[in-house]
Amino acid sequence: MAGTGVATPHPVLDKPLIRFGKRILERTAPGTAPGEYRILGIHPLTPHIGAEITGVDLSQPIGADLADELRQALLEWKVIFFRDQRDFGPEDHAALAGLWGEPEANPFFPTGDRAGVSRLAKDAMAVGTENIWHSDHSFMAAPALGSVLRAVEIPASGGDTLWADMGAAYDNLPDAMKQRIEGLTAEHDWVPTWGATMAQDQIAALRQTMPAVEHPVVVRHPVTGRRLLYVNEPFTTRIVGLDEEEGRELLHELVLQARIPEYQVRFRWQPDSVAIWDNIAVQHYAINDYYPQRRVMERIAIAGVPLS
Ligand code: SIN
Repeated sequence: MAGTGVATPHPVLDKPLIRFGKRILERTAPGTAPGEYRILGIHPLTPHIGAEITGVDLSQPIGADLADELRQALLEWKVIFFRDQRDFGPEDHAALAGLWGEPEANPFFPTGDRAGVSRLAKDAMAVGTENIWHSDHSFMAAPALGSVLRAVEIPASGGDTLWADMGAAYDNLPDAMKQRIEGLTAEHDWVPTWGATMAQDQIAALRQTMPAVEHPVVVRHPVTGRRLLYVNEPFTTRIVGLDEEEGRELLHELVLQARIPEYQVRFRWQPDSVAIWDNIAVQHYAINDYYPQRRVMERIAIAGVPLS
């Protein structure tokens, strides 16, 4: 769309969500140089988020140099993908996740037959509900640092996953919005989603160990320090300290930022594909367009740290 030369703001297009034109899309945190890779082949899917990685068989023991490159690639690309990992077994899955930390089970997912592995099997009988932009476990005091997801069974078409760069989402906010949200915190809670079909006494029992928690609206990445917009549609329930209407309007505008296509990468799965994502730097959305075909994934989430 060419510029129109209109001097007065457009009544709708000056809203931050639908601003058109150039976007700020930085791959690395300010002051951080891109990584150097001697072992890994890096094949970017967009200039700033998502890269396919070649040159590694994840079923083999991971030495210190390879581990360093994998950690660097994840910091830089925020979600990294591997194909044709045919011999990648449960122990390899756990070992790979272990490069970043301890496994963390989602308290609401059915657990597979191995500790820490959540098996996400969807078909005509069990429809997926991960088709909403979210950050895993943000309802926990120390949300998951990341996840390692392995494709077991993939529909002939459909079932892609999207990830959105929440550093880009923050960077592109207008300065007035950045100032407005500076220092604000938001409440995150599992009850409106996972609790929606539970009886009150079950919710009350789970509440004992999982109270609603608060995180800054803008967090700093635990490793790079990059500023990231950290609110998401299913789990962020309110902005603390604002009146209800103002808070709702602000939260609505902020959670919609993940939907902007320039911030996103989309991955077409094949059986034996593996993805690792930085769960603080990105949100994700599992597209639910394959019903009633079957889609089976196995996931290990990695325990996190309190955010600031
Ligand atoms: C998830 O939300 O962790 C699942 C992602 C997927 O199945 O693609």
